[in-house]
Amino acid sequence: MENTKLIENIFSLKKKKNAIILAHYYQNPAIQDVADFVGDSLGLSHKAKKTDADIIVFAGVHFMAETAKIINPNKKVILPDMDAGCSLADSCPPKDFEQFIKLHPDHIVISYINCSTEVKALSDIICTSSNALRVINSLPKEQKIIFGPDKNLGAYLARKSRRELVLWDGVCIVHQEFSEKEILSLKRKYPNSKLVAHPECTSYVLDYADFIGSTTAMLEFTKTDSATTYIVATEACLLHQMKKNSPEKQFLPAPVVSTCSACNQCPYMQINTLEKLYKCMKEESPEILIDEKLRLRAYQSVQKMMEI
Ligand code: 13P
Ligand code: SF4
Repeated sequence: MENTKLIENIFSLKKKKNAIILAHYYQNPAIQDVADFVGDSLGLSHKAKKTDADIIVFAGVHFMAETAKIINPNKKVILPDMDAGCSLADSCPPKDFEQFIKLHPDHIVISYINCSTEVKALSDIICTSSNALRVINSLPKEQKIIFGPDKNLGAYLARKSRRELVLWDGVCIVHQEFSEKEILSLKRKYPNSKLVAHPECTSYVLDYADFIGSTTAMLEFTKTDSATTYIVATEACLLHQMKKNSPEKQFLPAPVVSTCSACNQCPYMQINTLEKLYKCMKEESPEILIDEKLRLRAYQSVQKMMEI
């Protein structure tokens, strides 16, 4: 089916089924443009909590749709493709994480939202890249903390909060790939440019950044900052909203280590297509289903984040 027809059908299904489409900034531009709300992980969680729609169509990856279901057990949550996973979530198998926690009995467990429902259920508090520092700072200085699953974000938070954190050894395959050497050579080519980076990047990229923040924070920064050229070290689809917000500015995707030109795109996010979005809305499937006991345990740690 042609894109214009697909878009027409998606809008009519949205109305007919009282559905809301929530999309992450890493979704391809065509999907972002049919969504009712485009945001970062925290914004999407809040939106999912507030909506009165009957169906939440989650254009993002599996852990994001699961989070929406954890918050909204009585709503139908569907996503375009069940295979839209996440390398960070996969790097933290619940059984291994449980053992890791047992090795550090007097620690509070803070987990980045990019993890499975099982890992959320094992955690005390969930955080996203936009509130992680606030969550850590809400705990007394002497409180020992395990942080998982992203070791890059964890190391960044340890530096920012000046605390020792016990880190789980997980990474995001997209943010891990940015090349310090190539970024520096791009900076030399555009001497007035600013580097904006997501805290999932390695420390050798973050050390050169003019601004570090979540996707929403980077978007806000480039909107209000006075520079006219930015090198963006995160998933390349965020550039779509940056260009929309500031059409007069220039945005350059940060180069990656490998020679692959699409390696700054998340392969999991890009599994979703407009066609699959339409199909999942038509069939109301695949649907996210979570065992209620497990959901309740995961809900507690998500709820703590919402309170903070
Ligand atoms: P945020 O949009 O919350 O910054 O998360 C980035 C990310 O990697 C999502 O998978
Ligand atoms: Fe996971 Fe990284 Fe993709 Fe985000 S960008 S969904 S953290 S693999």
